[in-house]
Amino acid sequence: MTQHVKSYRTDSEQATYDLGKLLAQQLRAGDVVLLYGSIGAGKSVMARAIGDALRVSRWSGSPTFSLVHEYQTIPRFYHVDLYRLSSGEVAELGLDEYAQNDSILAIEWADRAPDLLGDLSTGRTVSIELAYSGEDSREVQISGLPALLAEPAVPVENGR
Ligand SMILES: Nc1ncnc2c1ncn2[C@@H]1O[C@H](COP(=O)(O)OP(=O)(O)OP(=O)(O)O)[C@@H](O)[C@H]1O
Ligand SMILES: [Mg+2]
Repeated sequence: MTQHVKSYRTDSEQATYDLGKLLAQQLRAGDVVLLYGSIGAGKSVMARAIGDALRVSRWSGSPTFSLVHEYQTIPRFYHVDLYRLSSGEVAELGLDEYAQNDSILAIEWADRAPDLLGDLSTGRTVSIELAYSGEDSREVQISGLPALLAEPAVPVENGR
């Protein structure tokens, strides 16, 4: 499959959320979404947008002590945060249990075990990298979706 990589710049939390919702329209059961980026980059904003697009009725916030939040959406949605884990601990977590072909799994701090997580999906792996480009602006790079996103309501940079 041809890998499309597309870069966006968002200038507010809302713009990142909107981009996440747009992206979520292209997700399907079996997808694993890897979220990369430093503290406050907007990984949780993206995860929330995906959850909302899947019609999560009560958002549980960011997984901290529980590590994994499960939502009874269709397809089922799992939201994981690996922040406090080493790659060894990630391996022990058994994430393959959540990466099933009837669910969507979104993983924050995918940097913790990129090699392991790249092989997790039974379907597609979508990577979203968020980086600061100013206090309220972020560079968002999306790869792994076969089609380019429809024109979002945010400034678009040339893809690489
Ligand atoms: N363009 C932007 N996109 C996303 N968030 C933004 C943007 N500009 C400012 N923000 C702010 O940055 C913060 C992003 O928080 P978020 O919890 O999504 O980050 P995170 O990457 O999940 O961090 P953590 O590593 O702590 O989990 C929010 O406070 C949000 O209001
Ligand atoms: Mg977060």
